[in-house]
Amino acid sequence: MTDKYAVFGNPIAQSKSPFIHTEFAKQTQQDLSYDAILVSVDQFDSSLTAFFTDGGKGANVTAPFKEQAFAMCDELSEMATLAGAVNTLFNLPNGKIGGDNTDGVGLVNDLEMLFGSLKGKRVLLVGAGGAARGCILPILQHNVAQLVICNRTHEKAEQLQALFSEYGNFFAKPIEELHSPFDLIINSTSAGLSGQLITLPNVIVDKTTDCYDMTYGQHTTVFNQWAQDQHARKTADGLGMLVGQAAKSFSLWRGVTPDTASVMGKLRESLAQKVAD
Ligand code: ATR
Repeated sequence: MTDKYAVFGNPIAQSKSPFIHTEFAKQTQQDLSYDAILVSVDQFDSSLTAFFTDGGKGANVTAPFKEQAFAMCDELSEMATLAGAVNTLFNLPNGKIGGDNTDGVGLVNDLEMLFGSLKGKRVLLVGAGGAARGCILPILQHNVAQLVICNRTHEKAEQLQALFSEYGNFFAKPIEELHSPFDLIINSTSAGLSGQLITLPNVIVDKTTDCYDMTYGQHTTVFNQWAQDQHARKTADGLGMLVGQAAKSFSLWRGVTPDTASVMGKLRESLAQKVAD
């Protein structure tokens, strides 16, 4: 029998998860279906429970439900517990719901593929929202020399420092106190989605700095354009993180790790196609 999976979100029409997981399933010859389910904000818990009661094997959760999914899980991985958010759900054999968070692993795998090992690097994380919180532990687990977090609202960066500083060399700095270049800068803010540029000092980028924007789109992101203007070594957008988190969810559910490169290629093509349209 075909195993049922789905992604829950609102909005959901833009989600690339059904495409990605269907490609993974073809590639690894897994018999599964994967749907996109639009749920209203007050019906998330009941829709998800109904999905699992109906035999659903697993689900992904996207905005704005990751915190709600976290709250309704019976069992949580350490990654999900520290992220305070869940993007991957399992129907456990005892009828309970298990939750994990694969966003951080998706990010870190993409970073190492693009820029080499994180070990010993000085890393700056820009932004202190949910996206930032989900990737702090996986970055620290890769033995970076330091992870600095800065945010427009500095208090939020300080709150994350308090939560995560016991896991590694991790601290918050006000943006105006950033005076020297980093090896890697990660933008986790949503500023670019509305075409805005976060104000950062130019001195944090030199020709050895790699820059990564968690968002992606048809064109170079505003943050990556700024980084290129400062002569950053390399820049990349978050499409690889999207495919990477999906690959990790897929391997948790199915026990096989799919190849991400071919799916990335197809997504890039479809983004380029939209530009041409
Ligand atoms: P997400 O879950 O995607 O991380 P979020 O929790 O709303 O979303 O967090 C958005 C992040 O983007 C925050 O760090 C926010 O900064 P504030 O904490 O100061 O609000 C940041 N952000 C959004 N728009 C921004 C802008 N125009 N300039 C700078 N930072 C911005």
